[in-house]
Amino acid sequence: MTYKKYPNVTILEHPLLKHKITKLRDKKTKTNEFKSLVKEISILEGYEALKHLKTHLVEIETPIEKTMQPVVDRKSLCFVPILRAGLGMEDGMLELVPGCTCGHIGLYRDEVTKEPVEYYCKLPSDIAEKDVYLLDPMLATGGSAIDAVKMLKRHGAQRITFICIIAAPEGVEAFCKANPDIPLVIGALDRCLNEKAYIVPGLGDCGDRIFGTTSGTTSDH
Ligand code: PRP
Ligand code: URA
Repeated sequence: MTYKKYPNVTILEHPLLKHKITKLRDKKTKTNEFKSLVKEISILEGYEALKHLKTHLVEIETPIEKTMQPVVDRKSLCFVPILRAGLGMEDGMLELVPGCTCGHIGLYRDEVTKEPVEYYCKLPSDIAEKDVYLLDPMLATGGSAIDAVKMLKRHGAQRITFICIIAAPEGVEAFCKANPDIPLVIGALDRCLNEKAYIVPGLGDCGDRIFGTTSGTTSDH
């Protein structure tokens, strides 16, 4: 489904994706299962987001004959998760394209201002030649994703797609205003943000639930 106002936005609708996102939201879902679900959801979203992936022909030999067949142009790609929660999505994307180059951007939201704070950036030097897939499960105010895109562009990235799992309308609006040309792939569009800028109904703090870092998080380690 496309978002009427912004043609760059795709909201995915597969029943399996919806099912897995429902399990992800459930506060009874424990750390191990939560992490596996983020990976599985990323595979489903990545499959869709990578549908225009470049391929080239290679010669192989079947039991019947030699033939030229397409393989994915892995070198044209780069995955860039936003730390921490994006790391859960990187696992899934690497299942789809093993050995793909990955860059990493470290950002966290200041608890008071809700503004993103940069603390890490390591990107491939040839990022300008690559199709970059920026990964973060949560698009809340949009501040982190907008900042990450700026960092990618500063390093020369030309073609960027942003993939998230759950988005708030406020974040979609802000991201699209800042980046109307960047494709934005969303697993589920939620209702709104609450007073703490958490997505409603959302899933809570994604990084904490992936890594089991709050006392309130149900962990099965
Ligand atoms: C979360 C999430 C995004 C950001 C989204 O990270 O993974 O990066 O918040 O919020 P925004 O759209 O309002 O910027 P967080 O800041 O909690 O950092 P963490 O992953 O290190 O816990
Ligand atoms: N970051 C999260 O992990 N969850 C939210 O709901 C908003 C930002």
